[in-house]
Amino acid sequence: MTTLLHLNSSARLTHSTSRQLTAHFVRQWLHSHPGTKIRTRDLGHYPLPAIDDRWVQAYEAEPSDRSPELHQALHLSDQLIDELLSADLLVLGVPMYNLTIPASLKAYLDQLIRRDRLPATATDPSQSPLCQKRAIVVTSRKFDYRLGSGREGRDFLEPYLRAIFSIIGLSQVHFVHADRLADPDQYHQSLADCRQQLDHLVVSLTAQTAVIPQSAY
Ligand SMILES: Cc1cc2nc3c(=O)[nH]c(=O)nc-3n(C[C@H](O)[C@H](O)[C@H](O)COP(=O)(O)O)c2cc1C
Repeated sequence: MTTLLHLNSSARLTHSTSRQLTAHFVRQWLHSHPGTKIRTRDLGHYPLPAIDDRWVQAYEAEPSDRSPELHQALHLSDQLIDELLSADLLVLGVPMYNLTIPASLKAYLDQLIRRDRLPATATDPSQSPLCQKRAIVVTSRKFDYRLGSGREGRDFLEPYLRAIFSIIGLSQVHFVHADRLADPDQYHQSLADCRQQLDHLVVSLTAQTAVIPQSAY
């Protein structure tokens, strides 16, 4: 059975474009794969704590040297890593805030990225426990950041997420951008384009389902 991890990071609880679009993907996916197990995590509504002094002490200690208190400091981080490892497919809603990802998503990534559990695998990405997983990142933003828009150099969201995901070996990442949302003439077209891209992703990922392994956890 496939497990899909559905993450949202918009601070908005209503009228959120990224939430609408990730929900669309999950509905379409379930329509084609009714047996899928869905796990949801709402980073925008239930923000995770920022890492603190004890967390960093625990992170820097060798796992075998950690005291019970230091193990406890990483308990939430361990749960988030287990949750990610148990998923075959991720769909992540990411509004652009001040040219990059929301702080709620950064707090999640800081909790998640641990060299003892998700080692950097730059030399051999196939060794990463995440290398077989696919991620769909749905972004929403007011303006146009596409090539030729004049704003492309200001998108610190997609390059950042691609870099941080590749560090942990999650390289099969598809981005769908709902942009130009400030322009009433473009808004509906942009959303329709995104829904179409998400529908195509359901089809193309379905074709690859045979190579999505059953969760090892
Ligand atoms: C705090 C804040 C910062 C924002 N910064 C940007 C930005 O830098 N660039 C941009 O295009 N839109 C920006 N926006 C607009 C949002 O990206 C846009 O409203 C998007 O639809 C939000 O996603 P959501 O609808 O899922 O909440 C910002 C919105 C907020 C609330």
